[in-house]
Amino acid sequence: MRTVRASAPGKLIILGEHAVVYGKPAIALAIDRRITCTVSRSSETTVNGRVMDADKHPYFNHMMKYSSSPLKIETESDIPSGSGLGSSAALSASFLKAVSVMEDTCTDNRKLATDAFLAEYTVQGRASPLDTSASVHGNGISLNGPEGSGEYLWDISVNENKWTVRDVRIPEMTMVIGYTGLHAATGPLVEKVRRYKDKCKFASDIVDEIGQTTVDGMNALSKGDIVKLGDLMTRDHKLLSILGVSCNELNKLVNVSLRHSYGAKLTGAGGGGSMIALTDEPEKVCEAISLRGGTPFIVKTGVHGAGVEE
Ligand code: PMV
Repeated sequence: MRTVRASAPGKLIILGEHAVVYGKPAIALAIDRRITCTVSRSSETTVNGRVMDADKHPYFNHMMKYSSSPLKIETESDIPSGSGLGSSAALSASFLKAVSVMEDTCTDNRKLATDAFLAEYTVQGRASPLDTSASVHGNGISLNGPEGSGEYLWDISVNENKWTVRDVRIPEMTMVIGYTGLHAATGPLVEKVRRYKDKCKFASDIVDEIGQTTVDGMNALSKGDIVKLGDLMTRDHKLLSILGVSCNELNKLVNVSLRHSYGAKLTGAGGGGSMIALTDEPEKVCEAISLRGGTPFIVKTGVHGAGVEE
């Protein structure tokens, strides 16, 4: 019986979260932590040995419409769930890749990224396709980047919203992730920023400034200027803190990491989840994060996107 095994990477957002919801640019990098989905035809759909349950498996429940028959689904993950590192995007991207091979539909990356985003949008109300496009493409991607800022990959549209996704060339660099262990849902944080921005011109100016910081970050990345990029990341953290999406735990991990880093910031929605530090002293940063109660791990970027595993 035919079995297909596919994997897809998690991601970190290096610049531009929250502002991306309002059409500003953002950059996400795929990381060497992946989810693997193994699928084979079956008489009923099971997930890791249990019959699929719409409440427990909302993603698979939504995505099974792409399969012509029930499936036996098995998953393996080395992305902590709820950590802001794109585990649900990697789950959707790896499963859809496996199903497209099983069905011989030769799905291209644009369709894969759109379908994976629609799964996140339907289940989670996800605001932008940043995670899912990074997981499908791998390496680095930008959303809403200025023309000429990277090779055009695809557009994704939902309702009246449209995002342009481009490839971002990334230099060799080491990032340390510090996971706070706190889970914070993305939706309420996006709403909090929306309310602040709608009420107050100051918040709207901060969102614009995050957008400009991201454009500057794209220039720094294209020149391989890690020092500049680090400065911009730290600046971005301050701007996000002003918007009210950081928290004590994130600020502590950012501050201790900065002693040994080019820059550090929260990554993703904030309120908990994870922070990232750009450094060439990863062990020292890991130690500092551990001492402050965070869970550190060193990640490699520049990894491939969703693909079949032999
Ligand atoms: O931590 P995450 O992966 O949920 O990142 C959220 C990023 C936001 O810009 C806040 C929302 C979005 O969908 O882009």
